[in-house]
Amino acid sequence: MTEASRQFDFEGRIARDEKIEPNDWMPSRYRRQLVRMISQHAHSEVVGMLPEGNWITRAPSLRRKISLLAKVQDEAGHGLYLYGAAETLGAEREDLINRLLGGDARYSSIFNYPSVTWGDVGVIGWLVDQAAMVNQTMLTKCSYGPYARAMIQICKEENFHKRQGMEIMAVLSAGTSAQRAMAQDALDRWWWPTLMMFGPPDEESPHSSELIGWKVKMKSNDELRQWFVDLAVPQAEALDLQIPDPELVRDSKTGHWISGPINWDEFRSILEGEGPCNRERIESRRESHFGGAWVREAARAYEEKCRKKKALERESL
Ligand code: 3HC
Repeated sequence: MTEASRQFDFEGRIARDEKIEPNDWMPSRYRRQLVRMISQHAHSEVVGMLPEGNWITRAPSLRRKISLLAKVQDEAGHGLYLYGAAETLGAEREDLINRLLGGDARYSSIFNYPSVTWGDVGVIGWLVDQAAMVNQTMLTKCSYGPYARAMIQICKEENFHKRQGMEIMAVLSAGTSAQRAMAQDALDRWWWPTLMMFGPPDEESPHSSELIGWKVKMKSNDELRQWFVDLAVPQAEALDLQIPDPELVRDSKTGHWISGPINWDEFRSILEGEGPCNRERIESRRESHFGGAWVREAARAYEEKCRKKKALERESL
């Protein structure tokens, strides 16, 4: 088959909503786009452990500590699923991680903000994980099989993350005035960065149209952002918390909640590494990566020992 006929065949499969699998032919650009997106997603999951991990030793009760531990542990697992999905495209996990540690790889902008009170843990679960779910629910229909399938398991766990966050916010917002103030302060600080999670506005997104054409993304950044806002505004009302957007208004015709302008300069500064926690996050990742090198060496040594033992057993047969 010529390259052109392979391309034609590939486009036909995408049009028929067939899943592309690791051993199938795919355009090199499709492969590169998926490695970019999936590796960033994996990095986001692992870096995303840091703001919440910061509160595990300070959780207000054993029950809160257990659920936060479980959530943070889930995020590590999501990172492993996604590094595994990137490897099915021929990417080397070590290369991907070294690019992150070298400051040459992106992860979600949202994790460059500090988690300063327990209210932040609640709002991260309630808003950030719900935003991730909106995005990941779309990705369960992605044309690349391993990515779509990883999303199905991840979304189930994200639902627990969202609910534990909402419960924290419900308790705080129904609590003392200090607890209510803590919940509102956390919402004030995390609302706009959560809207930025969905990426730049559609007209400034260089990748969206190609990714939508290949059914990697099924919706645009702005469509997902709108879906999230329509979910979160009534929830904030139910929590008796104020969304920090004086221009937020409901469109009576469409029923959508229309947000005020997003500070894209802030978003761009985060992407340029100038956010409140960019340096701290990469430093923490470097510290845990190099501090944990002995675990990887021990695992490799054990793997080598088992391999040699099996080889000797095969020779003795
Ligand atoms: N943070 C950092 N970089 C971002 C970003 C964000 N929130 N949004 C966009 N960007 C970057 C893109 O990576 C791209 O830069 P690059 O060319 O150097 O890679 C540039 O900005 C242009 O953005 P586009 O919208 O054109 O890029 P995409 O089409 O890739 O859309 C995306 C961005 C919506 C994040 C998309 O990549 C995506 O859906 N990724 C998969 C989901 C994901 O990564 N989610 C991150 C959150 S995971 C999480 O929250 C963990 C949970 O457990 C809490």
